[in-house]
Amino acid sequence: MILIDFIILWIHVFSAIFFVGGSFFIWLVVVPASFKITDDEKMRTRIVGLIGKQFALFTDITLAILIITGIYNATWYLDYDISNLFDTAYGQTLLVKIILVGVMIVVMYGNNIYHGKRIMAMAREGRFDEMRRLRRWSHFFSYVTLGLLAAITILAVALQFYL
Ligand code: HEM
Repeated sequence: MILIDFIILWIHVFSAIFFVGGSFFIWLVVVPASFKITDDEKMRTRIVGLIGKQFALFTDITLAILIITGIYNATWYLDYDISNLFDTAYGQTLLVKIILVGVMIVVMYGNNIYHGKRIMAMAREGRFDEMRRLRRWSHFFSYVTLGLLAAITILAVALQFYL
């Protein structure tokens, strides 16, 4: 493997660690800890919302890096022949990974854009019952996103076994 391929694969893996690790950190550490910080639902929603917003600044960039470096990795991985993406087992594994990345992006951004802003507004206006109902859906889609991230990393590791 030439040096440039090595460096770009490292950037890809490092971005994946940041993106996947950070997403699980929010759900396994920040959200449960927020219940211990305050009983004020308005305040708690604001804290978690602001941390999520701050993390989103980095996830947008990290995701863009993952896609650009992923496309670069795919060139050598597919032996510089796009037909290998459809005609070989290793290419098809990569294809499933790319499709899951696409689905994950739609679910994650759809959830953030549709539910995120509404939940913050409802918390500000004190509409807690409505907010809890919407939050259940938002949590469901967040868990789907985490599940997809886990599946994407499993497929990323599976790609190794064809080399
Ligand atoms: C959320 C997005 C993504 C995550 C979390 C992710 C994760 C990873 C990880 C952890 C590896 C290292 C696997 C290993 O060395 O064992 C990897 C490798 C790779 N990824 Fe991604 N990836 C993402 C997006 C993409 C995209 C969009 C593409 C293609 C367009 C792609 C193509 C590849 C290729 C070709 C490899 C090299 C496989 C190898 O070294 O055998 N990835 N990815």
